[in-house]
Amino acid sequence: MPSPLEKTSIILGVTGSIASYKAVDLASKLTQAGAVVDVVMTSEAVNFVTPLAFQSITHRSVVTELFNPTSEIGIDHVALAKRADAVVVAPATANTIAKMAFGMADDALTATILATQAPVMVCPAMDGHMYENAATQSNIKVLKDRDVTVVGPVDGYLASGLTGKGRMADQDEIEGHLKQLLGRNGDLRARRIVVTAGGTQEAIDPVRFISNRSSGKMGYAIAEAARDRGAVVVIVAAPNSLQDPVGVNVVPTVSAKEMKSALEAEVENADVLIMAAAVADWRPKTFAHQKIKKASGSDTWAVQLVKTQDAVAGVKRNGLIKIGFAAETEDVVRNAKSKITAKNLDLIVANDITDPDGGFGSATSQVTMLDRNGHSEDLPLLSKYEVGHRILDRVAILLKP
Ligand code: CTP
Repeated sequence: MPSPLEKTSIILGVTGSIASYKAVDLASKLTQAGAVVDVVMTSEAVNFVTPLAFQSITHRSVVTELFNPTSEIGIDHVALAKRADAVVVAPATANTIAKMAFGMADDALTATILATQAPVMVCPAMDGHMYENAATQSNIKVLKDRDVTVVGPVDGYLASGLTGKGRMADQDEIEGHLKQLLGRNGDLRARRIVVTAGGTQEAIDPVRFISNRSSGKMGYAIAEAARDRGAVVVIVAAPNSLQDPVGVNVVPTVSAKEMKSALEAEVENADVLIMAAAVADWRPKTFAHQKIKKASGSDTWAVQLVKTQDAVAGVKRNGLIKIGFAAETEDVVRNAKSKITAKNLDLIVANDITDPDGGFGSATSQVTMLDRNGHSEDLPLLSKYEVGHRILDRVAILLKP
């Protein structure tokens, strides 16, 4: 599955702000992800960045005037507006936001926005006081009430020399929200999906713990794929070093016990649980409240372990679709099959973690999906995001009434 931006038609509206130069990078990112990007600039934006900069990146002519019969698009901004899958205004000044709120159409950008039926996203960038001003705040509210997605601004250093809220959101944030916006009517629209990810940590004392090699990448990739198909996604996360995906709610947990209780609360009104986390099977029997000193022990140290409860097996809610994972080092299919029944799963995703291309921490994975009817499907080596989509294709079928 390619990027959800592939072959989409995106209008990038650029208004006159010191953040305008960042839009060049955004145009580049969207183009690289396979989108056809048409840039529409206001006359103030042209003072900050040249249309040529955008044209060189998007390989498309840039619209700067409402009526320009010599441009490829000519005076027909309506055609551009019709063709678009989404309109992103980044950066959006207080002035353009105000014009949008009033439905004005006195330049190529605002006219395009008024003419489009595609979803619109604005990424404000302005001086902190201009952003806080009651007029701007109420204009932003008007846009939100009209289902315009507002991303940012964020805190940081402003061109005025002050620090405050007014910086344009960063590219990844904008791109993530755009993917979510494009997928909002996808086949998992409004479905509630809980994904677990990462490897739990079981504390021995305040400085030591027992854990495993899970990076969390598989669970996070599934969560992003589900978001990009319109699902409402929660990640119940064991410790990991990954960035929270945009548009996904992340509930942090540490131990197997914490993960079990967090996910029990989260699945209350969920449609699907995808258990990609590597949950500890054992935890230290006792927790030492003070650091265990090296000098106090002998040359060997036996930590007594007790079994944890199985989180996914313990979730017994009628109608909830449960997908498990089986990370194996031998007899992959046989071991995975026995887990389907033991944990009452609808589907299990098995992989051989000794495979160097598809083991822990890798960006790719080669998995076999097994269902409760005994059918198995071997997938080729794919990116974890693509594996996520293949799992979700099965979820979409399981969800059909
Ligand atoms: N799992 C769980 N709670 C646990 C252990 C595992 O919910 N305490 C879930 C995992 O998230 C995964 C599935 O059960 O979806 C299988 O996990 P795995 O570690 O492969 O299997 P185990 O049941 O732990 O069995 P074994 O260690 O013997 O392979």
